Amino acid sequence: MKKCRICKSPIEPFISFGQMPIANGFLTREQFADEYFFELQAAFCANCTMVQLIDQPEPQKMFHENYAFFSSTSKRMAVHFEEFANHVKKDYLTSSNPFVVELGCNDGIMLQHFANSGIKHLGIEPSVNVARVANEKGVQTISEFFNESTAKDILGKYGQTDAFLAANVMCHIADFNSVIAGIKMLVNPDGIVMFEDPYLGDVIEKTSYDQLYDEHVFLFSLSSIKYAFEQYDMELVDIEPQGTHGGSMRYIIAHKGARLVSKNVYTQLEKEKEMKLNKVETYNVFRKNCEKSRDSLKQLLVDINKRGKRVVGYAATSKSTTILNYCGIGPDLIEFISDTTPIKQGKFSPGMHIPVRAYEEFMAKYPDYAVLLAWNHGEEIMDKEKQFKAAGGKWIIFVPEVKVV
Ligand code: TYD
Repeated sequence: MKKCRICKSPIEPFISFGQMPIANGFLTREQFADEYFFELQAAFCANCTMVQLIDQPEPQKMFHENYAFFSSTSKRMAVHFEEFANHVKKDYLTSSNPFVVELGCNDGIMLQHFANSGIKHLGIEPSVNVARVANEKGVQTISEFFNESTAKDILGKYGQTDAFLAANVMCHIADFNSVIAGIKMLVNPDGIVMFEDPYLGDVIEKTSYDQLYDEHVFLFSLSSIKYAFEQYDMELVDIEPQGTHGGSMRYIIAHKGARLVSKNVYTQLEKEKEMKLNKVETYNVFRKNCEKSRDSLKQLLVDINKRGKRVVGYAATSKSTTILNYCGIGPDLIEFISDTTPIKQGKFSPGMHIPVRAYEEFMAKYPDYAVLLAWNHGEEIMDKEKQFKAAGGKWIIFVPEVKVV
């Protein structure tokens, strides 16, 4: 029997998505034979309410010198992170010489706004290639996996931090308890922790099961975050819901008793109870909804294919690895996936081996249908691709339900 990664209670999977490759593991033809697979299964802990993967590949298999995800590929996300940085500067950096730490700073998309204002900062980014880009931008970044022991080293070298930030990173780290122990040590008595990740409530509501992939070892809610931090005498003091990544939650945490707990926290905790996020039945319904979504997406693509129409995928996201592999969608149904990230182009999608091509190929000859694999950037993409629609192109979307628009 597996144990909860947070509270060590016994857990059982409520869903298996089957064998999955590394979600960001875009590969060459020569690498097909050695591709790594693991069983992607998710569980709910009835004790602490954390939703989590049963198994996660070793971090070194996911985050390395060839990591394929660069945060700065979305213009809207760039604006989002500038606003996040400004909010922290204005509302939380009150000392005369503040120090800001960001975990998983990627290419420096957020931390650059502190660096450019001359604020003392440190990025911690295990993927060497993206950390290099951050350093080149003038963002001081070290390449490490963060845990209790690296926190000690950082504390010795740089001292305590006023603001410990992270975006779409905390839910990646299997040994979350060690991360919290490190944070507890590193954040000064008046300091804050602010991080955001895809929100469990949105995933359940929208059946956006593609938020479950190797990197996303947790799907957080207020109740699970509250439990996890209370183990270390830290307190959830506020939340700020975000529209990013299909619905995210920003959590604001402080040392116990250091700040007042906002009523937003109590209200949202109540909502979570109304949504029954604390009940195992919810996850059994979710599994059935995933199966329905899978079957209708596959059927739709098979039907379109029979009609001899051209279909391409739009954006080779990590999330799409779960969709394509779980639904069994390969190059027979999707001709290629268009993506703007140079490191992904010319390679093949993990597991299903659909070719990934430059965005220019999508532009050069519009397909009849494009599967919106980056549905979370839907607004930005629809805005940008008005011509595709005007030329008669149709979008296939699958969140919150499968349809053609
Ligand atoms: P994102 O949803 O952030 O990916 P993930 O599921 O990996 O978190 O989307 C980023 C990917 O989408 C990246 O490979 C670049 C690609 N992309 C495009 O190709 N065109 C676009 O207009 C956008 C916004 C993203």
